[in-house]
Amino acid sequence: MSFVVAIDGPAGSGKGTITELVGKELDLINIDTGATYRCVALETLNRNISIEDKESIISILDEIDIEFKNTSEGKKVFLNGNDVTAKIRSKEVSQIVSQVSSIKEVRFKMVDLQRRLAEGKNVIMEGRDIGTYVFPNANVKIYLDATAEERANRRFKQNKEAGIEMSYEEILQNIKMRDKNDMEKEIGALKQAEDAIYLDSTFLTIEQVKDKIIEIIKDNM
Ligand code: DC
Repeated sequence: MSFVVAIDGPAGSGKGTITELVGKELDLINIDTGATYRCVALETLNRNISIEDKESIISILDEIDIEFKNTSEGKKVFLNGNDVTAKIRSKEVSQIVSQVSSIKEVRFKMVDLQRRLAEGKNVIMEGRDIGTYVFPNANVKIYLDATAEERANRRFKQNKEAGIEMSYEEILQNIKMRDKNDMEKEIGALKQAEDAIYLDSTFLTIEQVKDKIIEIIKDNM
């Protein structure tokens, strides 16, 4: 038996930060599903495959091994044995990841991996389609939202701390483009599950969002 908390929402809504904090506090394994799509996007770039060349992207899926490891320096993502934790957040990856994640075959493979990662465990999983598609029977479903401007603002600050050079305007444009792509996907589109709780974090602090989510989870435990 496993306990699954699904946190869905658009880019920059705070899912990453919140799932990490809530996961630690409630002892739930944190699974970042966006990172799996980012790994496929990174490998596409590494192999100089054009984003238009879907056949070639599909053909590398069997050669991609993704692992999440908890190290003394925090949570790390490995792609074919290499630590790609920082690389998968690069501007180049962010620009193509939504398109890569729209490819049906990529989604099937990644969803399969995401389900296996959660098997028999108590997890908090963040993404776009966790409550609607990956785990439609999740114990708790939350849809975390914020305005595009506030989300761009948060990403801008995060990037600055991580040393990633991107202007606010560039980030806002990227977020709007990703929202559109993510919402219009044929499979696994970003949308609130009917039974998900809607939470707007625009005017809330991280601490306030964390406390609200913990309260919701505890009510359902
Ligand atoms: O959460 P993120 O920004 O790291 O996600 C990267 C991309 O992956 C995003 O554009 C949408 C896609 N994604 C998805 O389609 N389904 C998920 N469950 C998670 C992410």
